[in-house]
Amino acid sequence: MPGQKTSQMLIIDKLYKGQMPGKEELLKLLTSHGSEDEEYLFKLARKVRERTYGKAVYIRGLVEFTNYCRNNCYYCGIRRSNSNICRYRLSDKEIYNCCDEGYGLGLRTFVLQGGEDAYFTRERLCTIIENIKKKHPDCAVTLSVGERDYKDYLAWYESGADRYLLRHETAMEWHYNKLHPAEMSLSHRKECLFMLKEIGYQTGAGFMAGSPYQTPECIVEDLYFLHGLKPHMAGIGPFISQKDTPFASQNNGTLKQTLFLLGIVRLMLPDVLLPATTALGTIAPDGRKKGLLAGANVLMPNLSPVYARDKYNLYDNKASAGEESAQCINLIKKCIESAGYIMDLGCGDCIVK
Ligand code: 5AD
Repeated sequence: MPGQKTSQMLIIDKLYKGQMPGKEELLKLLTSHGSEDEEYLFKLARKVRERTYGKAVYIRGLVEFTNYCRNNCYYCGIRRSNSNICRYRLSDKEIYNCCDEGYGLGLRTFVLQGGEDAYFTRERLCTIIENIKKKHPDCAVTLSVGERDYKDYLAWYESGADRYLLRHETAMEWHYNKLHPAEMSLSHRKECLFMLKEIGYQTGAGFMAGSPYQTPECIVEDLYFLHGLKPHMAGIGPFISQKDTPFASQNNGTLKQTLFLLGIVRLMLPDVLLPATTALGTIAPDGRKKGLLAGANVLMPNLSPVYARDKYNLYDNKASAGEESAQCINLIKKCIESAGYIMDLGCGDCIVK
């Protein structure tokens, strides 16, 4: 009914006006909302994203260059204790070939993502970054290689890396400790994020929707953390169980919850680069399109060599074909256009208005 706003819509209005609702209000919005509230949120989220980015959807080519990892996160399929996975690491040449192929397809951002693999020393990654930037000076290089020293982050930035993705995973201490072994800490993760921002990277944080033990209060903390950090990018996708992890039998996050969070984050951080993630495309065939319609404005198709794709299994049934594959750029374009948007192959920096 026109003029008849629900109390949830009034909270959504606050976000739209750039005000941060109180924690109780966010809790209420997260725990009780109807489909009209969702539609209302998504409509405003689209309006806000269009104000900054118009109809553009940016494409990033994802190069998953190593699945070796020193960490043992309970949710992740490439955790070090998983002996059921076939480990690989791409050679420098293979990494360059991926970028060259992506460049040929029209992509202008390469995301080098991997487990925390000590083989890739500061110097090795510097060389790789320098060579990619030398060959493709018109491209952005994004790193996503986890927690490292300040000196590593600085050296890579000076070698030409532009952006860094490091999801905080959860902003609630007790929850962080449910998802990670004791050798990892939320405070160190946050420290890394602050270092990256200070160095000058366009920085991305984020968390999983529906991760085990997550409560609505955890999500409120995640939203407050993102609001405080003001990242350039935010990665939010559903948790999906992986059969060889301690969380094998945990429930997956849902499409519905993920979309609602994308909408909220879009209103809270109007200029943020927000991907409709591979995980979202994995839990529902039309997940990515729905993500775009909830406020997302980035897609990150896979550029890794085909032999590596089924080995980078963070979670079960991870999508890597069709719209997830950079080689299928036409399918990606179709998906974007079916949502009423336009594929933009530019390097797509964060616009801060
Ligand atoms: N389900 C969904 N996302 C996952 N990630 C790791 N494991 C899973 C999983 N089982 C996400 C983490 C990490 C990113 C690279 O992938 O949030 O930061």
